[in-house]
Amino acid sequence: MNEKDSENMTAELSTKENYKTTSAINEADLIILNTCSVREKPVSKLFSRLGTINKQKKHTARIGVCGCTASHLSEEIIKRAPYVDFVLGARNVSKITKAIKQKGFVDVDINYDETTYLFKGFENQTYKRKINISIGCDKSCTFCIVPNTRGTEISIPKELIINEISKAADSGVVEVLLLGQNVNNYGKTFSNKNIKSSFVQLLRDISKIDKLKRIRFASPHPLHMDDEFIDEFSKNKKICKNIHIPLQSGSTKVLQDMRRGYTKQWFINRCERIKEKLPNVRISTDIIVAFPTETQKDFEDTIDVIKKVQFDQIFNFKYSSRPNTQASFLKTIVTDDIASNRLEQVIQLHKEQIDKKMASTIDKSYEVLFEQKNKNGDFVGFSDNGYQIHSKNTKDILGKIKEVKITNFHRTYLEGLVS
Ligand code: 5AD
Ligand code: SF4
Repeated sequence: MNEKDSENMTAELSTKENYKTTSAINEADLIILNTCSVREKPVSKLFSRLGTINKQKKHTARIGVCGCTASHLSEEIIKRAPYVDFVLGARNVSKITKAIKQKGFVDVDINYDETTYLFKGFENQTYKRKINISIGCDKSCTFCIVPNTRGTEISIPKELIINEISKAADSGVVEVLLLGQNVNNYGKTFSNKNIKSSFVQLLRDISKIDKLKRIRFASPHPLHMDDEFIDEFSKNKKICKNIHIPLQSGSTKVLQDMRRGYTKQWFINRCERIKEKLPNVRISTDIIVAFPTETQKDFEDTIDVIKKVQFDQIFNFKYSSRPNTQASFLKTIVTDDIASNRLEQVIQLHKEQIDKKMASTIDKSYEVLFEQKNKNGDFVGFSDNGYQIHSKNTKDILGKIKEVKITNFHRTYLEGLVS
Protein backbone atom coordinates (compact mmCIF):
# COMPACT_ATOMS: atom_id res chain seq x y z
CA MET A 1 0.00 0.00 0.00
CA ASN A 2 2.82 2.38 0.89
CA GLU A 3 4.71 1.48 -2.27
CA LYS A 4 1.62 2.31 -4.27
CA ASP A 5 1.24 5.64 -2.46
CA SER A 6 4.89 6.41 -3.29
CA GLU A 7 4.27 5.49 -6.93
CA ASN A 8 1.21 7.74 -7.00
CA MET A 9 3.22 10.66 -5.61
CA THR A 10 6.03 10.03 -8.09
CA ALA A 11 3.55 9.93 -10.96
CA GLU A 12 1.85 13.12 -9.79
CA LEU A 13 5.18 14.96 -9.43
CA SER A 14 6.59 13.75 -12.74
CA THR A 15 3.47 14.41 -14.83
CA LYS A 16 2.46 17.73 -13.30
CA GLU A 17 5.71 19.23 -12.02
CA ASN A 18 8.34 17.69 -14.26
CA TYR A 19 10.26 15.96 -11.48
CA LYS A 20 12.56 13.03 -12.23
CA THR A 21 13.68 10.44 -9.70
CA THR A 22 17.28 10.17 -8.50
CA SER A 23 18.94 7.71 -6.14
CA ALA A 24 21.52 10.32 -4.97
CA ILE A 25 20.23 12.23 -1.95
CA ASN A 26 22.78 15.02 -2.40
CA GLU A 27 21.40 15.71 -5.91
CA ALA A 28 17.71 15.79 -5.00
CA ASP A 29 15.63 18.97 -4.90
CA LEU A 30 12.88 17.21 -3.04
CA ILE A 31 13.13 14.29 -0.59
CA ILE A 32 10.02 12.48 0.56
CA LEU A 33 10.00 9.93 3.35
CA ASN A 34 6.92 7.76 3.07
CA THR A 35 6.37 6.18 6.45
CA CYS A 36 4.71 3.22 8.16
CA SER A 37 3.45 3.25 11.75
CA VAL A 38 2.13 -0.27 12.14
CA ARG A 39 4.92 -1.12 14.60
CA GLU A 40 7.05 1.13 16.79
CA LYS A 41 10.42 0.52 15.14
CA PRO A 42 9.82 2.34 11.84
CA VAL A 43 8.50 5.33 13.78
CA SER A 44 11.63 5.60 15.93
CA LYS A 45 13.79 5.24 12.83
CA LEU A 46 12.08 8.24 11.21
CA PHE A 47 13.79 10.96 13.23
CA SER A 48 17.29 9.48 12.99
CA ARG A 49 16.81 9.08 9.23
CA LEU A 50 15.55 12.65 8.94
CA GLY A 51 18.66 13.90 10.77
CA THR A 52 20.95 12.02 8.38
CA ILE A 53 19.10 13.26 5.31
CA ASN A 54 19.20 16.83 6.57
CA LYS A 55 23.03 16.60 6.72
CA GLN A 56 23.39 14.98 3.28
CA LYS A 57 20.91 17.04 1.29
CA LYS A 58 21.52 20.07 -0.90
CA HIS A 59 21.10 23.32 1.03
CA THR A 60 17.99 24.25 -1.00
CA ALA A 61 16.35 20.81 -1.03
CA ARG A 62 12.95 20.39 0.61
CA ILE A 63 11.96 17.46 2.85
CA GLY A 64 8.46 16.03 3.20
CA VAL A 65 7.18 13.32 5.55
CA CYS A 66 4.20 11.35 4.26
CA GLY A 67 2.24 8.22 5.13
CA CYS A 68 0.92 6.68 8.34
CA THR A 69 3.44 8.18 10.79
CA ALA A 70 2.69 11.57 9.28
CA SER A 71 -1.01 10.88 9.96
CA HIS A 72 -0.50 10.11 13.59
CA LEU A 73 2.30 12.53 14.55
CA SER A 74 1.11 15.40 12.32
CA GLU A 75 2.72 18.83 13.12
CA GLU A 76 4.66 17.18 15.95
CA ILE A 77 7.09 16.12 13.19
CA ILE A 78 7.85 19.73 12.24
CA LYS A 79 8.18 20.68 15.92
CA ARG A 80 10.78 17.96 16.46
CA ALA A 81 12.52 18.41 13.09
CA PRO A 82 11.95 22.06 12.02
CA TYR A 83 13.78 21.53 8.72
CA VAL A 84 10.87 19.34 7.53
CA ASP A 85 8.90 21.38 4.98
CA PHE A 86 5.59 19.52 4.85
CA VAL A 87 3.64 16.63 6.35
CA LEU A 88 1.01 14.64 4.42
CA GLY A 89 -1.01 11.78 5.91
CA ALA A 90 -1.52 8.43 4.20
CA ARG A 91 -4.96 9.48 2.96
CA ASN A 92 -3.76 12.86 1.69
CA VAL A 93 -0.84 11.99 -0.58
CA SER A 94 -2.78 13.19 -3.65
CA LYS A 95 -2.11 16.74 -2.38
CA ILE A 96 1.61 16.34 -2.97
CA THR A 97 1.86 19.01 -5.70
CA LYS A 98 0.18 21.52 -3.36
CA ALA A 99 2.30 20.49 -0.36
CA ILE A 100 5.64 21.07 -2.09
CA LYS A 101 4.73 24.70 -2.77
CA GLN A 102 3.89 25.69 0.80
CA LYS A 103 6.45 25.67 3.61
CA GLY A 104 4.86 24.19 6.74
CA PHE A 105 1.97 22.51 4.83
CA VAL A 106 0.30 19.88 7.05
CA ASP A 107 -2.70 17.76 6.01
CA VAL A 108 -3.59 14.56 7.84
CA ASP A 109 -7.39 14.57 7.44
CA ILE A 110 -8.50 10.92 7.48
CA ASN A 111 -11.99 11.79 6.23
CA TYR A 112 -10.63 13.07 2.96
CA ASP A 113 -12.03 11.13 0.00
CA GLU A 114 -9.36 10.83 -2.64
CA THR A 115 -11.06 8.17 -4.74
CA THR A 116 -10.82 10.33 -7.85
CA TYR A 117 -7.07 10.39 -7.55
CA LEU A 118 -6.09 6.84 -7.10
CA PHE A 119 -5.16 5.78 -10.57
CA LYS A 120 -1.99 7.52 -11.59
CA GLY A 121 -0.13 5.26 -14.01
CA PHE A 122 3.52 4.71 -13.23
CA GLU A 123 5.57 4.27 -16.34
CA ASN A 124 8.55 2.44 -14.76
CA GLN A 125 6.43 -0.65 -14.26
CA THR A 126 6.08 -2.48 -17.52
CA TYR A 127 4.42 -5.82 -16.84
CA LYS A 128 2.84 -5.45 -13.44
CA ARG A 129 0.64 -2.74 -11.96
CA LYS A 130 -0.69 -2.14 -8.48
CA ILE A 131 -4.31 -0.98 -8.44
CA ASN A 132 -6.09 0.37 -5.37
CA ILE A 133 -9.62 -1.00 -5.12
CA SER A 134 -10.45 0.39 -1.69
CA ILE A 135 -8.87 2.72 0.82
CA GLY A 136 -9.06 2.80 4.62
CA CYS A 137 -10.32 0.14 7.01
CA ASP A 138 -13.59 -0.30 8.91
CA LYS A 139 -12.37 -3.01 11.26
CA SER A 140 -11.20 -2.31 14.78
CA CYS A 141 -8.54 -4.92 15.47
CA THR A 142 -7.41 -3.91 18.93
CA PHE A 143 -3.66 -3.97 18.13
CA CYS A 144 -3.83 -1.97 14.91
CA ILE A 145 -3.21 1.71 14.25
CA VAL A 146 -4.26 1.64 10.58
CA PRO A 147 -7.90 2.77 10.99
CA ASN A 148 -6.54 5.86 12.83
CA THR A 149 -4.08 6.66 10.05
CA ARG A 150 -5.95 5.67 6.89
CA GLY A 151 -9.53 6.37 7.95
CA THR A 152 -12.73 4.49 7.17
CA GLU A 153 -13.13 2.13 4.23
CA ILE A 154 -14.32 3.38 0.86
CA SER A 155 -14.44 1.22 -2.26
CA ILE A 156 -13.44 2.70 -5.58
CA PRO A 157 -16.14 2.49 -8.30
CA LYS A 158 -15.75 -0.62 -10.46
CA GLU A 159 -15.84 1.31 -13.73
CA LEU A 160 -12.76 3.32 -12.71
CA ILE A 161 -10.90 0.14 -11.80
CA ILE A 162 -11.85 -1.69 -15.01
CA ASN A 163 -10.99 1.33 -17.12
CA GLU A 164 -7.57 1.70 -15.49
CA ILE A 165 -6.73 -1.98 -15.84
CA SER A 166 -7.86 -2.03 -19.51
CA LYS A 167 -5.59 0.95 -20.24
CA ALA A 168 -2.71 -0.74 -18.42
CA ALA A 169 -3.27 -4.02 -20.32
CA ASP A 170 -3.27 -2.14 -23.64
CA SER A 171 0.13 -0.69 -22.71
CA GLY A 172 1.66 -4.13 -22.03
CA VAL A 173 0.78 -4.82 -18.38
CA VAL A 174 -0.03 -8.54 -17.94
CA GLU A 175 -0.49 -8.78 -14.17
CA VAL A 176 -2.33 -6.61 -11.66
CA LEU A 177 -2.15 -6.57 -7.88
CA LEU A 178 -5.43 -5.34 -6.41
CA LEU A 179 -4.83 -3.45 -3.18
CA GLY A 180 -6.95 -2.76 -0.12
CA GLN A 181 -6.73 -3.30 3.65
CA ASN A 182 -9.51 -5.90 3.30
CA VAL A 183 -9.90 -6.54 -0.43
CA ASN A 184 -12.68 -9.10 -0.07
CA ASN A 185 -14.84 -6.55 1.74
CA TYR A 186 -14.87 -4.62 -1.55
CA GLY A 187 -18.24 -3.11 -2.40
CA LYS A 188 -19.58 -2.57 1.12
CA THR A 189 -19.25 1.25 1.02
CA PHE A 190 -18.94 3.58 -1.96
CA SER A 191 -18.89 7.40 -1.70
CA ASN A 192 -21.87 7.31 -4.08
CA LYS A 193 -24.55 5.29 -2.23
CA ASN A 194 -26.19 4.18 -5.51
CA ILE A 195 -23.28 2.03 -6.61
CA LYS A 196 -23.47 -1.69 -5.81
CA SER A 197 -20.80 -4.34 -6.35
CA SER A 198 -18.93 -7.16 -4.63
CA PHE A 199 -15.37 -8.46 -4.69
CA VAL A 200 -16.37 -11.64 -6.53
CA GLN A 201 -18.19 -9.58 -9.17
CA LEU A 202 -15.16 -7.29 -9.49
CA LEU A 203 -12.85 -10.30 -10.00
CA ARG A 204 -15.17 -11.74 -12.68
CA ASP A 205 -15.30 -8.44 -14.55
CA ILE A 206 -11.55 -7.83 -14.37
CA SER A 207 -10.84 -11.31 -15.68
CA LYS A 208 -12.83 -10.50 -18.85
CA ILE A 209 -10.10 -8.02 -19.88
CA ASP A 210 -8.56 -10.03 -22.67
CA LYS A 211 -4.95 -8.84 -22.63
CA LEU A 212 -4.68 -9.14 -18.86
CA LYS A 213 -3.29 -12.56 -17.92
CA ARG A 214 -2.94 -12.56 -14.14
CA ILE A 215 -4.75 -11.16 -11.11
CA ARG A 216 -3.36 -11.02 -7.59
CA PHE A 217 -4.80 -9.27 -4.57
CA ALA A 218 -3.68 -8.29 -1.06
CA SER A 219 -5.01 -8.85 1.47
CA PRO A 220 -8.26 -10.70 2.05
CA HIS A 221 -9.65 -10.83 5.61
CA PRO A 222 -10.31 -14.40 6.86
CA LEU A 223 -13.71 -13.32 8.18
CA HIS A 224 -14.99 -12.49 4.67
CA MET A 225 -13.67 -15.65 3.03
CA ASP A 226 -17.06 -17.18 2.30
CA ASP A 227 -17.61 -20.17 0.00
CA GLU A 228 -18.52 -17.95 -2.97
CA PHE A 229 -15.18 -16.16 -2.68
CA ILE A 230 -13.22 -19.41 -2.34
CA ASP A 231 -15.06 -20.92 -5.34
CA GLU A 232 -14.22 -17.90 -7.51
CA PHE A 233 -10.61 -17.97 -6.33
CA SER A 234 -10.35 -21.65 -7.22
CA LYS A 235 -12.14 -21.60 -10.57
CA ASN A 236 -11.09 -18.31 -12.13
CA LYS A 237 -8.07 -19.18 -14.30
CA LYS A 238 -6.65 -15.66 -14.26
CA ILE A 239 -6.44 -15.47 -10.45
CA CYS A 240 -2.98 -16.52 -9.27
CA LYS A 241 -3.12 -19.40 -6.83
CA ASN A 242 -1.17 -17.67 -4.10
CA ILE A 243 -3.10 -16.10 -1.27
CA HIS A 244 -2.19 -14.12 1.84
CA ILE A 245 -4.53 -14.91 4.75
CA PRO A 246 -3.50 -13.04 7.91
CA LEU A 247 -3.97 -15.37 10.90
CA GLN A 248 -2.56 -13.05 13.64
CA SER A 249 -3.16 -15.67 16.37
CA GLY A 250 -4.19 -19.33 16.45
CA SER A 251 -6.02 -18.96 19.76
CA THR A 252 -9.76 -18.28 19.59
CA LYS A 253 -9.52 -16.43 22.91
CA VAL A 254 -6.72 -14.12 21.69
CA LEU A 255 -8.54 -13.64 18.38
CA GLN A 256 -11.49 -12.41 20.43
CA ASP A 257 -9.22 -10.08 22.41
CA MET A 258 -7.88 -8.84 19.08
CA ARG A 259 -11.46 -8.44 17.77
CA ARG A 260 -10.66 -10.35 14.61
CA GLY A 261 -14.17 -11.80 14.28
CA TYR A 262 -13.22 -15.43 13.51
CA THR A 263 -12.14 -18.53 15.44
CA LYS A 264 -9.18 -20.89 15.14
CA GLN A 265 -11.49 -23.51 13.61
CA TRP A 266 -12.92 -21.11 11.02
CA PHE A 267 -9.42 -20.15 9.89
CA ILE A 268 -8.26 -23.78 9.57
CA ASN A 269 -11.47 -24.71 7.77
CA ARG A 270 -11.05 -21.90 5.21
CA CYS A 271 -7.47 -22.96 4.45
CA GLU A 272 -8.47 -26.62 4.18
CA ARG A 273 -11.28 -25.79 1.78
CA ILE A 274 -8.86 -23.86 -0.45
CA LYS A 275 -6.26 -26.64 -0.34
CA GLU A 276 -8.83 -29.31 -1.18
CA LYS A 277 -9.76 -27.43 -4.33
CA LEU A 278 -6.22 -26.36 -5.22
CA PRO A 279 -3.47 -28.79 -4.16
CA ASN A 280 -0.72 -26.49 -5.54
CA VAL A 281 -1.98 -23.34 -3.82
CA ARG A 282 0.52 -21.40 -1.70
CA ILE A 283 -0.76 -19.67 1.42
CA SER A 284 1.10 -16.95 3.29
CA THR A 285 0.16 -15.33 6.58
CA ASP A 286 0.90 -12.71 9.25
CA ILE A 287 1.39 -13.79 12.85
CA ILE A 288 1.69 -11.62 15.94
CA VAL A 289 3.26 -13.33 18.95
CA ALA A 290 3.04 -12.06 22.52
CA PHE A 291 -0.22 -10.14 22.30
CA PRO A 292 -0.70 -8.78 25.88
CA THR A 293 -3.18 -11.54 26.90
CA GLU A 294 -1.37 -14.45 25.18
CA THR A 295 -0.77 -17.40 27.56
CA GLN A 296 1.51 -20.35 26.80
CA LYS A 297 -1.58 -22.37 25.83
CA ASP A 298 -2.72 -19.61 23.44
CA PHE A 299 0.71 -19.59 21.83
CA GLU A 300 0.55 -23.38 21.44
CA ASP A 301 -2.69 -22.89 19.48
CA THR A 302 -0.75 -20.66 17.07
CA ILE A 303 1.90 -23.37 16.70
CA ASP A 304 -0.87 -25.90 16.13
CA VAL A 305 -2.35 -23.83 13.26
CA ILE A 306 1.11 -23.45 11.70
CA LYS A 307 1.53 -27.25 11.84
CA LYS A 308 -1.91 -27.89 10.37
CA VAL A 309 -1.96 -25.27 7.60
CA GLN A 310 1.74 -25.52 6.64
CA PHE A 311 2.03 -21.92 5.45
CA ASP A 312 4.35 -21.23 2.54
CA GLN A 313 5.42 -17.89 3.95
CA ILE A 314 5.00 -16.33 7.38
CA PHE A 315 5.51 -12.67 8.22
CA ASN A 316 5.95 -12.87 11.99
CA PHE A 317 5.94 -9.98 14.38
CA LYS A 318 6.35 -9.43 18.06
CA TYR A 319 3.37 -7.47 19.35
CA SER A 320 4.19 -3.77 19.41
CA SER A 321 2.01 -1.43 21.46
CA ARG A 322 0.62 1.40 19.33
CA PRO A 323 -0.70 4.70 20.71
CA ASN A 324 -4.47 4.94 21.31
CA THR A 325 -5.24 1.39 20.18
CA GLN A 326 -7.48 -0.65 22.49
CA ALA A 327 -4.77 -3.24 23.13
CA SER A 328 -2.37 -0.53 24.31
CA PHE A 329 -4.52 -0.18 27.46
CA LEU A 330 -4.24 -3.90 28.32
CA LYS A 331 -1.83 -5.05 30.98
CA THR A 332 0.62 -7.50 29.41
CA ILE A 333 1.23 -10.94 30.91
CA VAL A 334 4.18 -11.57 28.54
CA THR A 335 7.79 -10.60 29.27
CA ASP A 336 10.09 -9.53 26.46
CA ASP A 337 12.16 -12.72 26.88
CA ILE A 338 9.08 -14.87 26.43
CA ALA A 339 8.07 -12.79 23.40
CA SER A 340 11.50 -13.27 21.76
CA ASN A 341 11.42 -16.97 22.53
CA ARG A 342 7.96 -17.38 20.98
CA LEU A 343 9.03 -15.48 17.88
CA GLU A 344 12.07 -17.73 17.55
CA GLN A 345 9.93 -20.86 17.85
CA VAL A 346 7.68 -19.68 15.02
CA ILE A 347 10.70 -18.86 12.85
CA GLN A 348 12.34 -22.26 13.48
CA LEU A 349 9.22 -24.30 12.85
CA HIS A 350 8.52 -22.41 9.66
CA LYS A 351 12.10 -22.87 8.41
CA GLU A 352 11.80 -26.65 8.79
CA GLN A 353 8.51 -26.65 6.91
CA ILE A 354 9.83 -24.42 4.13
CA ASP A 355 12.99 -26.46 3.55
CA LYS A 356 10.88 -29.57 2.94
CA LYS A 357 8.51 -27.71 0.64
CA MET A 358 11.25 -26.11 -1.45
CA ALA A 359 12.98 -29.50 -1.86
CA SER A 360 9.75 -31.03 -3.12
CA THR A 361 9.61 -28.66 -6.12
CA ILE A 362 12.46 -30.39 -7.99
CA ASP A 363 11.36 -31.56 -11.46
CA LYS A 364 7.97 -29.85 -11.10
CA SER A 365 6.91 -27.24 -13.70
CA TYR A 366 5.46 -23.79 -13.09
CA GLU A 367 4.15 -20.97 -15.27
CA VAL A 368 6.45 -17.99 -14.63
CA LEU A 369 6.07 -14.34 -15.62
CA PHE A 370 9.63 -13.05 -16.08
CA GLU A 371 9.89 -9.44 -15.08
CA GLN A 372 13.55 -8.52 -14.64
CA LYS A 373 17.18 -9.63 -14.90
CA ASN A 374 19.38 -9.93 -11.82
CA LYS A 375 23.06 -8.93 -11.60
CA ASN A 376 24.16 -12.41 -12.79
CA GLY A 377 22.16 -11.91 -15.98
CA ASP A 378 19.52 -14.49 -14.95
CA PHE A 379 15.87 -13.81 -15.69
CA VAL A 380 13.78 -13.50 -12.53
CA GLY A 381 10.04 -13.92 -12.21
CA PHE A 382 7.22 -15.37 -10.15
CA SER A 383 5.19 -18.50 -10.68
CA ASP A 384 1.44 -18.29 -10.62
CA ASN A 385 1.52 -19.67 -7.06
CA GLY A 386 4.15 -17.15 -5.97
CA TYR A 387 7.56 -18.87 -6.07
CA GLN A 388 10.41 -16.59 -7.03
CA ILE A 389 12.12 -18.42 -9.91
CA HIS A 390 15.46 -17.67 -11.62
CA SER A 391 16.34 -18.95 -15.05
CA LYS A 392 19.26 -18.60 -17.44
CA ASN A 393 18.12 -18.06 -20.99
CA THR A 394 19.66 -16.90 -24.21
CA LYS A 395 16.42 -15.52 -25.64
CA ASP A 396 14.77 -12.42 -24.16
CA ILE A 397 11.80 -13.64 -22.13
CA LEU A 398 11.02 -10.42 -20.23
CA GLY A 399 7.28 -9.82 -19.97
CA LYS A 400 6.52 -13.38 -21.13
CA ILE A 401 4.84 -16.19 -19.23
CA LYS A 402 6.86 -19.40 -19.69
CA GLU A 403 6.74 -22.92 -18.35
CA VAL A 404 9.79 -23.60 -16.19
CA LYS A 405 11.02 -26.97 -14.87
CA ILE A 406 12.73 -26.67 -11.46
CA THR A 407 16.34 -27.87 -11.26
CA ASN A 408 17.57 -26.42 -7.95
CA PHE A 409 16.12 -24.93 -4.77
CA HIS A 410 17.11 -22.41 -2.10
CA ARG A 411 15.17 -21.23 0.95
CA THR A 412 13.72 -18.17 -0.78
CA TYR A 413 13.87 -18.93 -4.50
CA LEU A 414 14.05 -21.70 -7.08
CA GLU A 415 16.10 -22.19 -10.25
CA GLY A 416 14.80 -23.78 -13.41
CA LEU A 417 14.92 -24.23 -17.15
CA VAL A 418 12.45 -22.79 -19.62
CA SER A 419 10.92 -25.60 -21.66
N1 5AD B 1 2.21 -5.16 16.57
C1 5AD B 1 2.77 -6.12 15.81
N2 5AD B 1 2.35 -6.39 14.55
C2 5AD B 1 1.32 -5.67 14.06
N3 5AD B 1 0.69 -5.71 12.88
C3 5AD B 1 -0.26 -4.75 12.87
N4 5AD B 1 -0.26 -4.08 14.04
C4 5AD B 1 0.71 -4.64 14.80
C5 5AD B 1 1.19 -4.40 16.11
N5 5AD B 1 0.64 -3.46 16.90
C6 5AD B 1 0.99 -6.70 11.85
C7 5AD B 1 -0.24 -7.58 11.58
C8 5AD B 1 -0.69 -7.10 10.23
C9 5AD B 1 0.62 -6.68 9.59
C10 5AD B 1 0.50 -5.77 8.42
O1 5AD B 1 1.32 -6.04 10.65
O2 5AD B 1 0.18 -8.92 11.52
O3 5AD B 1 -1.37 -8.10 9.49
FE1 SF4 C 1 -5.55 -3.23 10.91
FE2 SF4 C 1 -7.40 -5.11 11.35
FE3 SF4 C 1 -7.84 -3.15 9.53
FE4 SF4 C 1 -6.02 -5.07 9.00
S1 SF4 C 1 -8.24 -5.40 9.29
S2 SF4 C 1 -5.77 -2.84 8.70
S3 SF4 C 1 -5.18 -5.46 11.04
S4 SF4 C 1 -7.65 -2.88 11.76
